[in-house]
Amino acid sequence: MANACGWVCSDSVSARVMCTSSVEGASASHSRLPRFVSKGCKLVGCGSAVPSLKVSNDDLAKIVETNDEWISTRTGIRNRRIISGKESLVGLAAEAARKALEMAEVNPDDVDLVLLCSSTPENLFGSATQIPKALGCKKTPLAYDITAACSGFILGLVSGSSHIRGSGFKNVLVIGAEALSRYTDWTDRGTCILFGDAAGAVLLQACAVEDDCLFGFDLHSDGDGHRHLNATMEQKELDDAADSNGSVVGFPPNHASYSCIKMNGKEVFRFAVGVVPQSVEFALQNAGLTVSSIDWLLLHQANQRILDAVAKRLEVPSERVISNIANYGNTSAASIPLALDEAVRSGRIQPGHTIAAAGFGAGLTWGSIIIKWG
Ligand code: COA
Repeated sequence: MANACGWVCSDSVSARVMCTSSVEGASASHSRLPRFVSKGCKLVGCGSAVPSLKVSNDDLAKIVETNDEWISTRTGIRNRRIISGKESLVGLAAEAARKALEMAEVNPDDVDLVLLCSSTPENLFGSATQIPKALGCKKTPLAYDITAACSGFILGLVSGSSHIRGSGFKNVLVIGAEALSRYTDWTDRGTCILFGDAAGAVLLQACAVEDDCLFGFDLHSDGDGHRHLNATMEQKELDDAADSNGSVVGFPPNHASYSCIKMNGKEVFRFAVGVVPQSVEFALQNAGLTVSSIDWLLLHQANQRILDAVAKRLEVPSERVISNIANYGNTSAASIPLALDEAVRSGRIQPGHTIAAAGFGAGLTWGSIIIKWG
């Protein structure tokens, strides 16, 4: 089986990278293979972990003016999990990673790279380095964070596969983990009903080029849309440090902190439904596949109405769309690996199935990847 990969240059606001390999029913694209690409990578394990505290729509109706009917009709969400007590983001991420390693029958000491996709790390400088410690690794693998909000896991898969293809890594843990509850305004009924906390992980493993399971992808960002969804650093402290002439008056400044999540729901909805179908189509094109050749559409779980609208636009029947949003809400970078893990463990996703996965969210960022499971 032939394989071909190519890197396509990007403009200032969007990057599109493509990598194609031939799969059944698809022809290999012409060879623009960078010489260092001599390996494939496959998905050999997955795992997930959620906090124990379950918060229902009725629970939320006790703190903001809302009700189960409004939330479930507009979003499909009924419950979400929230970190509490001694639980931590690192703890959830490590539990998800441990399960992925167990499924893959890979020893934690054989992991050589950990990518933690999270916008809510427990340390300003990132939390990835704490994962190998939590896993009890005796050797210390390289570990770093990727911050790309709800697209983080897709970026993580692309980055992980690039490290395997180009840098000789063999076992790469890609983890999506979020604790958005820590940045949720629990008095804002427009946002607090949406989010939940969770972690999901996959193990990417180097393999022969012919067995490559990451067929094509498509990535974008647009800083202009940042205003529609963000949690920005509070600027007040910095302004207070100087008077109108620029003289220092309040030094040292107070510590900076981030605001709670602010969102224009309608704009974000419009953005998602507008860009995601096209991105999935680009990724499929790059893979040399069509919508009819995918077994599953696995979108970032933001809103059931977004999943339905994207599926309709792509003409994917609802029985081939993975959804667990009712139970967990929007868990940002964790949502795709969490839904993947549940679908694999329940037997819906079987080895050899082709999946089109897409993430979208703050930044704005969005992207898609075509993968084969197992
Ligand atoms: N419960 C009850 N009523 C609510 C409510 C809630 N939780 N939130 C808003 N409302 C009210 C509004 O105040 C408004 O009332 P009004 O008509 O009297 O002014 C009405 O419901 C409609 O509000 P609107 O904001 O227009 O609703 P919507 O249909 O756009 O749904 C979202 C709101 C947030 C569910 C929807 O816009 C959405 O899901 N957007 C995408 C968000 C997203 O996915 N973000 C993350 C991306 S990664």
